[in-house]
Amino acid sequence: MNTIFRASVSFLILGAVTATTLSGQQPERNPFSQNSAVSQAPQGYTKEGVFGHKAMVVSAHPLASQVGAEILRHGGNAFDATVAVQLTLAVVFPVAGNISGGGFIVARMANGKTVTLDFREAAPMLASRDMFLDSAGNVIPRLSTFGHKASGVPGTVDAMVKLHKQYGKLPWKALVQPAIDIARNGVFLTVREAEGLNEVRESLEYYNPGKTYFLKPNKSPWKAGDKLVQEDLASTLERIRDKGRDGFYKGKTAELLVAEMKRGGGFITQKDLDAYSAKWRTPLRGSYRGHTIITMPPPSAGGVGLLQMLTILEAQPLKEWGVNSEKTAHCMIEVERRVYADRSEYLGDPDFYNVPMKGLLDQQYLRSRMSNYSPDKATPSTEITYGKDVRSFGSNDQTTHFSIVDPEGNAVALTTTLNGGYGSKVVVDGGGFFMNNEMDDFSVKPGAPNMFGAIGGEANAIQARKRMLSSMTPTIVEKDGKLSFLLGTPGGTTITTSVLQGIINIIDHSMTAQQAVNTKRFHHQYVPDIVRVEHGTFTTEVETALQQKGHTFRNIGTIGKLDVILRRADGSLEGAADPRGDDMAIGF
Ligand code: GLY
Repeated sequence: MNTIFRASVSFLILGAVTATTLSGQQPERNPFSQNSAVSQAPQGYTKEGVFGHKAMVVSAHPLASQVGAEILRHGGNAFDATVAVQLTLAVVFPVAGNISGGGFIVARMANGKTVTLDFREAAPMLASRDMFLDSAGNVIPRLSTFGHKASGVPGTVDAMVKLHKQYGKLPWKALVQPAIDIARNGVFLTVREAEGLNEVRESLEYYNPGKTYFLKPNKSPWKAGDKLVQEDLASTLERIRDKGRDGFYKGKTAELLVAEMKRGGGFITQKDLDAYSAKWRTPLRGSYRGHTIITMPPPSAGGVGLLQMLTILEAQPLKEWGVNSEKTAHCMIEVERRVYADRSEYLGDPDFYNVPMKGLLDQQYLRSRMSNYSPDKATPSTEITYGKDVRSFGSNDQTTHFSIVDPEGNAVALTTTLNGGYGSKVVVDGGGFFMNNEMDDFSVKPGAPNMFGAIGGEANAIQARKRMLSSMTPTIVEKDGKLSFLLGTPGGTTITTSVLQGIINIIDHSMTAQQAVNTKRFHHQYVPDIVRVEHGTFTTEVETALQQKGHTFRNIGTIGKLDVILRRADGSLEGAADPRGDDMAIGF
């Protein structure tokens, strides 16, 4: 194995990354749609899909996709490739890739069995409900988002080990080695990565005094093409390679992490590391226009919200109305507003709070949520609250998603995060990796918005060992009992609505995977009462009409980075990497 990976890694380091495409193939109509024509020309980016006969990897970074594809080419399955891609992203995509964050996996085996793995971070045992409030009960600015106190107990390495033990085929060491080699030999920064590191330079210096992690040796700004070498991270990954879970949660890495926490007043102790365990959870299943939707249960708010929105929207003629038309957008915004109101009240870690799942997904309840809907005017969020009878913002780069299908037909959708870009900005001294700032995803005070502008209450209050609520929504869609497509995205609270739009673009608007990804997006989350949009989402006429109905727009640059794999009618795969990032699809 080693020879294989040495050979592939030297290929990677040379930067000779090219997508394997089936030449001459053009993107074609989505075979799973109900109509033969694209209902309206997609707006937005013009990137084209990548095609493969057997397997596909779509991730946020070309090197990570290349490593995943090499694993699959050499006999690994989707679960092996997942481990290798996750660890490679921790090296080549430090803004969100991680060994010290958390995430969710939704997987579908070739035989149709589905599983999810929850590796969301947990509050440390020393955490308490009001830990981010001052003596007057006010939120202390930045405490839950920057520095040592902002970190939850990491789940990534535990999950990768569990996933590999249960489903992997190749030796663990072979899956970790590519990440080690890239960390030690260096990775060439893209424009986005160089800019990202330059943007957080002051925070890096502030939270890591006297250290040079992620700074250029002469502290000049990073430029595209500069080489980032990560010696300490390579050594940490070697310990993970040699000792598995104990290479992170015990021994030298754990000692370095706990010492870093002590240095900066953080809460994570060795006891927290010993106690952490990723959890297998039963997938959430729903249906939409003859498709089965398999998604993540709580502590993801995304899966529940997605199924709520799809259930309500199924009754509407979205196809006839067209993509990003006045009627479609108005209806979707009003649905999103109501579903996010439910999220603010009812969603939290199900091991600590009784999430009323049955009610939230009940058809009659969902119909009742739309009782005050008007097709002619926006319902202000001040006139909306969560459904009473249920028991009878930010930037894009903080999270990352990848999708993998292997030659056997196994499919893995994984979304993972440090929360904010580069997490808490704290780098574990000697360990070389960023810590997450996931504690901000708790409701630090009822009604106080988190960094994504989302509010919450009791259901998502801080409690020792509880997992903070997430929007991450890795999702797999079946049609006629067979894999149809899988998708997911970063984007904080916009994750769920981006996944929703991806699904609707493919199923209702008859798009190819890449067209669905390229199409511009919008988002409403109840509070604040604004529609976040990408430039060009709506024509001027549509935007004016929506404003006349009472909607207020805010242009927020880009929304999400959807990475999608679609199985086509002939059994081949279309990989769609989002043009909003450096994402790349590689298939063969
Ligand atoms: N940290 C973003 C999320 O989990 O929703």
